[in-house]
Amino acid sequence: MKASILLCHNNKGIHRFAQRFGVTAYILHIFFPAKPVASNLTKEVTFIMRTIKLGTSTLEVPVIAVGCMRINSLSKSEAERFVRTALDEGANFFDHADIYGGGACEEIFADAIQMNDDVREKIILQSKCGIRKGSFDFSKEHILASVDGILKRLKTDYLDVLLLHRPDALVEPEEVAEAFDTLQSSGKVRHFGVSNQKPMQIELLRKYVKQPIVANQLQLSITNATMISNGINVNMENDSAIDRDGSILDYCRLHDITIQPWSPFQYGFFEGVFLGNDKFPELNQKIDEIAAKYNVTNTTIAIAWLLRHPARMQPVIGTMNIERLKDCCKASDIYLTREEWYEIYRAAGNVLP
Ligand SMILES: NC(=O)c1ccc[n+]([C@@H]2O[C@H](COP(=O)([O-])OP(=O)(O)OC[C@H]3O[C@@H](n4cnc5c(N)ncnc54)[C@H](OP(=O)(O)O)[C@@H]3O)[C@@H](O)[C@H]2O)c1
Repeated sequence: MKASILLCHNNKGIHRFAQRFGVTAYILHIFFPAKPVASNLTKEVTFIMRTIKLGTSTLEVPVIAVGCMRINSLSKSEAERFVRTALDEGANFFDHADIYGGGACEEIFADAIQMNDDVREKIILQSKCGIRKGSFDFSKEHILASVDGILKRLKTDYLDVLLLHRPDALVEPEEVAEAFDTLQSSGKVRHFGVSNQKPMQIELLRKYVKQPIVANQLQLSITNATMISNGINVNMENDSAIDRDGSILDYCRLHDITIQPWSPFQYGFFEGVFLGNDKFPELNQKIDEIAAKYNVTNTTIAIAWLLRHPARMQPVIGTMNIERLKDCCKASDIYLTREEWYEIYRAAGNVLP
C-alpha cells in the first residue's frame, strides 16, 4: 500500500487502532528496510486502509467510501487520475446513484476505471435508486428497471450494494421484498441497504424483506450532527434535544447497520464547506490546532472526527481533488482522543447539557 510511515515510539494512533479494532480490521505489514535507518527505534511500516464489515454482512469495506456524485465535473483524464489515486490509497469502495448527473456519473466512472472483469473484482460498487424527477419510487418495477440501467452504465453485471435512496411515502414493502428477491436470485445485487431512513421505516421494510439491511446513508458532519446531539441532550428544553430521526444512531448500532455519513464537509443542505469558512471561526481554530498536533490537514481531522465515533461509520466523501482525497484517506490512521472529539463537537456550537 502506498502510504508509508515511520513507526516511532510515539505513533499512538496506530497502537490505539490495533488495540481497538484488532489485526483483521487494521493490518500492519512491518518490514525492515534494506538499509537500516539511523535510529534503532525506527522501522518502516506500510499500512493498509482500515476496513470494517458492512453491517452484518461478511463484506469487508474500507472505512472511507468514495462518493461519485461530482465526478462529472472532471475531464476524462482527471477522472482517470482520480479513480487511480483512490485505488492506490486503498479506497476501492465507490458510491453512486442512478440520478447522479442524470446517469452520466456512473458512465464516466466506468470509463475512467476502464471497467473489465479484472478491475471489477478489485472494487466494491454501491449505487442507489428510488429518486425520480418530482417523486420517489420504491415500486418493484422501478427498482428492477433502475438496477438494469445502473449495471449497464457501470459496465458490470452486479452491484455489491444497492441502497434505496430516499423514503417513498407510497412504499409497498411487499413489493420492495419481491424486487430484492429477484435482484438477489439473479445475482444482480449482493447486499441491500437504505438511505435517509428512520428506524420505523427500516422496521417496516424488515417485516417483509428477508435480506439484511446492511447500510443506512445519512447526512452527518461536524456541523450537521443532530443525530448525535439529540442523544446528548435527552429531554432538555433546548433545540439540540429535538429528535429528528427517531434515534437512528442508536437504532443502527443496535441492529449492526453501518451508517454512511454523506456530505461530511458540508453545512446545511449543500450550503458550503465549513472548513476554512469564516462562519465557523471557533471550529476552524480548534480543527487547525488538532490538525497541527497530528501533522495532518484540517480535511483529515474532519473525517477522523466521524471515524472516532464507536458506531464504526463509513463516511462517503465527495471531493474530486486528489490531494484532499488522500487527506481523507489519512483519517483511517488517526484516532482522536475523547477530549479532542468533544472539543471539536463543542467548537461547532453544539451544546452539552
Ligand atoms: N444518500 C444521499 O442522499 C446523498 C446525498 C448527497 C451526497 N451523497 C453521497 O455523498 C457523497 C459526498 O457528498 P458531498 O460531495 O456533498 O460531500 P462533501 O465531501 O461534504 O463535499 C465535497 C465538496 O466540497 C468541496 N470542498 C471544498 N473544500 C473542501 C475540503 N477542504 N475538504 C473536502 N471537500 C471540500 C469539494 O470540492 P473539491 O472537489 O474541489 O475538493 C466538493 O465539491 C456524494 O458523492 C454522494 O456519493 C449521498
